Amino acid sequence: MENINWSELGFGYSKTDYNVRCYYRDGKWGELEVSSSDQISMHMAATCLHYGQEAFEGLKAFRGADGKVRIFRLDENGKRLQSSAQGIMMAELPLDKFEEAIVKAVKLNERWVPPYESGASLYIRPLLIGTGAQVGVKPADEYLFVVFVMPVGPYFKEGFKPTDYVILKEFDRAAPQGTGKYKVGGNYAASLVAGHKAHADGYSAVLYLDSKEKKYIDECGPANFFGIKNNTYITPKSDSILPSITNMSLRQIAADLGMDVEQRPIEADELATFEEAGACGTAAVISPVRKVAFPDENKEFVYGDEPGKISLKLYDTLRGIQYGTVEDKHDWITIVE
Ligand code: PLP
Ligand code: COI
Repeated sequence: MENINWSELGFGYSKTDYNVRCYYRDGKWGELEVSSSDQISMHMAATCLHYGQEAFEGLKAFRGADGKVRIFRLDENGKRLQSSAQGIMMAELPLDKFEEAIVKAVKLNERWVPPYESGASLYIRPLLIGTGAQVGVKPADEYLFVVFVMPVGPYFKEGFKPTDYVILKEFDRAAPQGTGKYKVGGNYAASLVAGHKAHADGYSAVLYLDSKEKKYIDECGPANFFGIKNNTYITPKSDSILPSITNMSLRQIAADLGMDVEQRPIEADELATFEEAGACGTAAVISPVRKVAFPDENKEFVYGDEPGKISLKLYDTLRGIQYGTVEDKHDWITIVE
């Protein structure tokens, strides 16, 4: 195991030993290839550079108390990458190839999976890009799929401590019938200016409203949103948010804990009625919300300086499943042998 101060890790790139690649050429996917270089070389007219033919995924591997390495819900990430590929007309990677590449990348870099006690994990970043040259606006005829990994700590440096979020009405992340439901780079480019403003003003992230009516909560820049009241887990239903695998898992965990679960439009003013609120995602895990500021309407919704009881229970259960200390009832874990 590496001599790293694992528990001090933040969320960022670091080079590990190997990455796994697969090329789509002449209408078919090739064999998986292993590389130790973190560079890729491509045509200057590649469609990913000009017309945003790019999608990515984010998932994690965890070293359990028993020393085993567990990957969380990789089949769901594989399906979502296929959906993103369809959404921007890229070649779809077969699920078995996706899963094989992820497991291979984790195995080859096993020494970078942080120890159990550190609370850190191995972040896995699959990437699919159009590499074929086009100058007219058309899909590429060649693609590259690559998986690289790195040990990470919490996405928001505060970890599981409540932080502040802000609604900024002047920014939209995704159009109502656009690409918000796909994990494509353009959505993140569209969130950079708003995110920068939020950070400069001391907030963890922007909480976006729906772009059409500017009335309902959509999601955060890098995570979904949930609120808790009356023993109910409530999360937005919207066509322009990413279907978060963490959120899907928390809905199941909430139901398993005997809570009611609602997935429906949430008006911004309903924020005032929640007892607890959180952002959720692979990188964010659960990041509790201390307050949501809404400067355009001179409002503030405050949830408190400590994580709420239910957020804590959801967090402990999710982490327990990921680290192998809570039973994996729904078959979410792949153990890397
Ligand atoms: N929403 C956005 C915009 C994201 O980038 C992410 C991160 O992947 C999420 C939500 C959370 O999704 P997941 O839980 O699948 O990581
Ligand atoms: C993730 O949670 O995996 C993400 O992709 C969020 C962010 C780093 C873009």
